Amino acid sequence: MSTDLSAYTAGVHEYVKKGEEIMRGRAESVKRMKQCRFDTISVHGLYDMREALDLNQGSIIEPAYMSTSQAYRDSDEMEAGLAYLIPNWCYARIANPTTYYLEWALALLEGYGSGLETSAVVTSSGMSAIMSAVEPFLVKLSQAPDEPINFVSSAHVYGGTFQQFNVRQVEKGRQVRWVPDPTDLSAWEAQIDEHTRLLYAELPSNPTINFCDIEKLAEIAHRHGIPLIVDATVATPALMRPLLHGADVVIHSVSKSLTSSGMGVGGVIVSRKNLVSEKVTEPPEMIADFATWVKFLPYRDNGPSMNPMQALLVLNDLRTLRSKMDLVSQSSQTVAEWLENHPKIERVDYLGLNSNPLHDLASRYMYLVDSDLDGATPVNRYGHLMSFRVKGSGEDTRRMFDGFEMIFRATDLGRIKSVATIPSISTHQQLGEEARSMADVPPNLIRLNVGGEHPDDIIADLERGLAKV
Ligand SMILES: Cc1ncc(COP(=O)(O)O)c(C=O)c1O
Repeated sequence: MSTDLSAYTAGVHEYVKKGEEIMRGRAESVKRMKQCRFDTISVHGLYDMREALDLNQGSIIEPAYMSTSQAYRDSDEMEAGLAYLIPNWCYARIANPTTYYLEWALALLEGYGSGLETSAVVTSSGMSAIMSAVEPFLVKLSQAPDEPINFVSSAHVYGGTFQQFNVRQVEKGRQVRWVPDPTDLSAWEAQIDEHTRLLYAELPSNPTINFCDIEKLAEIAHRHGIPLIVDATVATPALMRPLLHGADVVIHSVSKSLTSSGMGVGGVIVSRKNLVSEKVTEPPEMIADFATWVKFLPYRDNGPSMNPMQALLVLNDLRTLRSKMDLVSQSSQTVAEWLENHPKIERVDYLGLNSNPLHDLASRYMYLVDSDLDGATPVNRYGHLMSFRVKGSGEDTRRMFDGFEMIFRATDLGRIKSVATIPSISTHQQLGEEARSMADVPPNLIRLNVGGEHPDDIIADLERGLAKV
C-alpha cells in the first residue's frame, strides 16, 4: 500500500512498473464489465478473455488454485509482493486467484447500477464477515482510550448475529444498543450518542422478515458521521443493492442464496470507496477502500479466509443468480398467498403480501434487477424466505413440521431445495425467552425457505403437515 519507493532496489522498481501495467489492464476490465448487464457480470465477473488466455491456459472456467502459496522469480519480486507494491497473492490466507475472481464478481454485482466504485473481501462464513465488518469501527482510539464504545443495531437480526453482538462484542467491552422496531426511525435516533460508532441492520431480516427504510437510515447514520452496515443476505444483489441507497458496507452470508446449491459456507464484505466514518478516521486507507484494507490488514492478521475450492463453487452458483431469484420469488408468492388463506395459519410474514404492513416500503427497494430496463416498470420480487405462525401451540407447530415429507427440516435457507425450521428451538434457542420475545420469535413460528420445486408440490407438502394439526 505504501507508495514511497525510494528505499527499494532497482529490481523492485522494475516489478512495480510491470505491476502497474497489469493493474491498468485490470482497471480496463473493471470498466468494461461495469458496462455489462447483471447477468453478464454474474456469468463472467472479472474472468475475461485476457485472464483466460494470458494467465490460465485458456480455461473458460476460473481455475481453483489450491496452492497455499505463490512462488516468486527472485528476491525483488518477493519484496515487492510482500510490501503490496505489485498485484500478487502471496499466501492463501491473504489472497488467492480464485477468491480474487469471486471478490470482483461480488463487488461488481453489489455495486451494479450505482456508479459507485466498490470492493469486496470474501470470508470463511457470514459470521466472520460480520465480525470483520463491524470491529474496525469499534476500536479504542488513541486520543480517547477510555471512551465507552457503542453501536446501534436492529433487534431483527439472525440469531448468530444477535449472539455475536450481545455476547462476543460485549465481552470485548463494546455495548450494543438494540432497536426493537427498526421501522421506527426515531428509535434509532434515540439510541445514538457521541460514542456510537455504526448502525447495523439486516434487511429483510431472518426469520421475521422485517424491513426498514435504507435511505432514511443511511441519512441518520451519515448525519451522525457514522457508517451504515447492512446484512442483505436474504435479498441478494439480484433483488436489492443497499449501496445504491446510501449504505456504506454490505455483508452477506454467502452460504445462503448466493450458493443456492448448499455446497459450503462463506461470507463477503462489500464496501463503497470513501465511506462515512468521522469518528474512526485512521488509517486513511480504511476509509478510502474499506474492504481492500480489511483484506490486506485485519483479515491477514486474523485469518478468516475462504477456501479457493469454496470460491469456485460459489462462482458456479452465482452465474444464474437473477433467474433463480426470480423463479423462487414467484413460487414464494404463490406459497405465501396459499398459506395466508389457510384456516390453520395465524399469520404469514412475507414482504410480497399486500397485507404485510411493510409491503409498500419493501416494494421501493426490492425488485428484480434489470426488470426496469428500457424504461419498463420494475418488477417487484421479495425473495424466498418467509415465516408463518401456526394457529395453536408450540406442540401443534412441531406436529405440522414433523409431517413434511419433502421439505427438509434443517436450519438452513437460501437453498434451491425447500427447507424449514422452527427458530425458537433452533437458530434462536440460545437467546433465551426475553431476547426471543424482543426478536419476535414465538414457538409457533416456522421459517420456510421456498426452493425451486414446483409450488404445487411445496403446497402439497405443507398441506400434509397441516393435516397433523
Ligand atoms: C441473515 C444472515 N446473516 C448472517 C448469517 C451467518 O452466516 P453463516 O452461517 O454463513 O456464518 C446467517 C446465517 O443463517 C443469516 O441468515
